Amino acid sequence: MQSTTILVALSAFTAFIYFLAEYFSKKQRLLRFHAAKLQGPPALPLIGSAYYLFGSNKSIVNNVIHLVKKYKSPWKIWLGRQLYIVVTEPEDIEVVLNKALEKAENYNFLACLLQEGLFTGPVEKWKRHRKVILSTFSMPILKSFVEIFSENSLRMLPKLDKFVGKGTFDVCPILTNTALEITCETAMGTKIYEQAHSDYAYNLSKALELVFMRMFQYWLHPNFIWSLSIYSKQLKQLSKQLEIFVQGIVTEKKVQYRDKKHDLCLETKRRKCFIDHLIEMSEDDNWHDHELLEEAQTMVAAGSESLGSVKSFTLIMLGMHPLIQDKVYNEMYNIFGPSDRTVTPDDLTEMTYLDMVIKETLRLFPVTAAVGRRVSQDIVTDRYTLPEGCECIVSILSAHRNPKIWPKPLDFNPDRFLPEEVAKRHPYSYLPFSNGPRNCIGFKYAMMAIKTVISTIVRRYKISTEFKSVPEIEFSPGVVLKSRKGYRTQLESRC
Ligand code: HEM
Repeated sequence: MQSTTILVALSAFTAFIYFLAEYFSKKQRLLRFHAAKLQGPPALPLIGSAYYLFGSNKSIVNNVIHLVKKYKSPWKIWLGRQLYIVVTEPEDIEVVLNKALEKAENYNFLACLLQEGLFTGPVEKWKRHRKVILSTFSMPILKSFVEIFSENSLRMLPKLDKFVGKGTFDVCPILTNTALEITCETAMGTKIYEQAHSDYAYNLSKALELVFMRMFQYWLHPNFIWSLSIYSKQLKQLSKQLEIFVQGIVTEKKVQYRDKKHDLCLETKRRKCFIDHLIEMSEDDNWHDHELLEEAQTMVAAGSESLGSVKSFTLIMLGMHPLIQDKVYNEMYNIFGPSDRTVTPDDLTEMTYLDMVIKETLRLFPVTAAVGRRVSQDIVTDRYTLPEGCECIVSILSAHRNPKIWPKPLDFNPDRFLPEEVAKRHPYSYLPFSNGPRNCIGFKYAMMAIKTVISTIVRRYKISTEFKSVPEIEFSPGVVLKSRKGYRTQLESRC
């Protein structure tokens, strides 16, 4: 008994000494020095302002909204010993997105899935990979994918037909599944709908769910607690299965690439996917199979969830605004007439009004509410210093709903994206795809895929929704912003 008491006392004493040493370390002192000049909520010893992140999901979201409204950009919040600096004004956002390229610590939780792919990778590796991957997102390659976007959109229609005239249903699962089919086929050449025994789609979405859960549950952050949880084992198993699946494809593609050298004719007839292009482009750079694998996984994971969410919100906005929907339909009729032919790359360039509708949807409902960056050396401006070791949070949602930049911010008005209106705004006031050197590499791909799917739906159905206004749509917290009450849609056939 006595020895247990001594042990507990010793542990408490060691923890106290550690806390003091840490508190007075040069790094922490510098962080506190610069943080003192910024506004922010009061911080308690040990936990900082983490009390704002306790409670139900709804109360966490409300707390964050309250803080963002209360403090002026840039403002600070301490979570434990970590200093976060939140930026919401375009000028501050521009500084962060151009000067801090390392991703925030939270992104490490995605590493079990994406390893060091473009999304999560450290700056040195990211620079080398980004250059190569950028060339696989060239316009000719993207145009070659439109056939895949269109074929998969058509395959989705019978699934939607089942709901025509049947009242309200949630359109998101069908759209997310189509998005996953599109990203798997363009990234790896795999038609997942043909693979009755492949659990790839299910495993990926389950794994992402577990990663997101860990990100938002503060007590699951320490590795030793996480490794004791059942979720950690589940995630390990899922990641292994996903890796085996993609590894199989990479190996097969490499064999095909070697064979191609003997039969060039055959290769030109085959439709190439992202990995095919990447194998070619990365030849001089001698990429390891593992690197191909992590980039293919990254493309599918980064693409599928985000596309599903944007398409669902766009349909809700069209359902809520019938006059805008009519305008989109008329645009489609001018392009396609009564024909039900597939979409071509030239059609996509003509869809200028739909383009504005999608952009306005992305303003109100950006896929990512915020992005995080780690500051690896002091960033000094004439107003403040972002000290080395802090993490910066760029709040995309607040920037997109800032009434100084977007009058009547909760009104859905695609005309905000007329070229003359865009020219009046700061380039960092609108960031659904982030901005700066580490912006979304897939943004053109995303816009082309969304336009193909939405135009196919609008040509065939009249869309309505029970939602009456934008403020009625509440978010559920997650890395991908989703509507808490789902995406309640009704469809009527146009023919
Ligand atoms: C509407 C759909 C999409 C949205 C709104 C979106 C948004 C974003 C955002 C905000 C980032 C920055 C993340 C950060 O800094 O933490 C990002 C990065 C990225 N996105 Fe997207 N994305 C979309 C679709 C796609 C698609 C379809 C792909 C791939 C085909 C893709 C691939 C990537 C990659 C690889 C990165 C990391 C880029 C880098 O760090 O260099 N995204 N995306």
